[in-house]
Amino acid sequence: MRNKINGSLTIVGAGPGDPELITLKAIRAVEQADVILYDALVNPVILTHNNLGKHYFVGKRKGEHSFKQSEINTMLVDFVLEGKNVVRLKGGDVSVFARAAEEITHAERFGISAKLIPGISSFTGIAAAHRIPLTRRCMYESIWITTGYTCDGKPSEDIAHAAQSSATVVILMGMTHLEEIISIFKKYKPAEYPIGIVQNGTLPNEKWVTGTLQNIVKRVKDEGISNPATIFVGSAVEDKTALWKIQKEIQHA
Ligand SMILES: C[S@@+](CC[C@H](N)C(=O)[O-])C[C@H]1O[C@@H](n2cnc3c(N)ncnc32)[C@H](O)[C@@H]1O
Repeated sequence: MRNKINGSLTIVGAGPGDPELITLKAIRAVEQADVILYDALVNPVILTHNNLGKHYFVGKRKGEHSFKQSEINTMLVDFVLEGKNVVRLKGGDVSVFARAAEEITHAERFGISAKLIPGISSFTGIAAAHRIPLTRRCMYESIWITTGYTCDGKPSEDIAHAAQSSATVVILMGMTHLEEIISIFKKYKPAEYPIGIVQNGTLPNEKWVTGTLQNIVKRVKDEGISNPATIFVGSAVEDKTALWKIQKEIQHA
């Protein structure tokens, strides 16, 4: 028979970047944690809600040791078995390219049942902040979210499927393969098809660029846009409610 587990594991979505774009439930979990393991895309301001616990950075930063997923899994379980209330804090939402499933599965092997607290994903947070209607009645009927960087280091094959659809396509982790992604879209969509890219969305150091399949690669280089960035492709990007569209119209007035 297993010993009683006194600790707990809560996997928490920290939102897209702005430290106020987080749920009340997430803040309560952070406040009560004995231990917090957090990623690079978590705004450190959120950690100030926790004065008593220990905080471990387990994300990837240039020039620093980056933790393997297996090491993170082990740390989570070890802390819970020591009786600690552990919060695993992740950028955005816990169900969108967050590797929460691996952590849940590993914890379950030790009889630990993780609780999940959703967050605002970067793509919905950024779209709303820029007034991009990812869907709009009778106009844009679906959203397709995919990754530009799969577990084998290549863009997802779903990008070609998405490019053939009329969905608003959102690509996370796509900057490394931007040129390849654009050339896939060009096979199925006209050169003037709209695209917008936002780096550090919802944060004071946010940068963004808009353009078309034809000119976006150059514009990204000119503006120095890099990771972490979210790519939006489709007519919704050029919707008349989108903030950058309005700003452009004001500039040209
Ligand atoms: C590993 S995924 C995590 C996604 C996260 N779970 C979510 O729901 O947003 C990391 C990618 O999310 C996107 N991302 C996260 N935060 C962002 C931000 N503030 N601005 C732009 N893109 C962001 C980028 O594409 C980044 O490479």
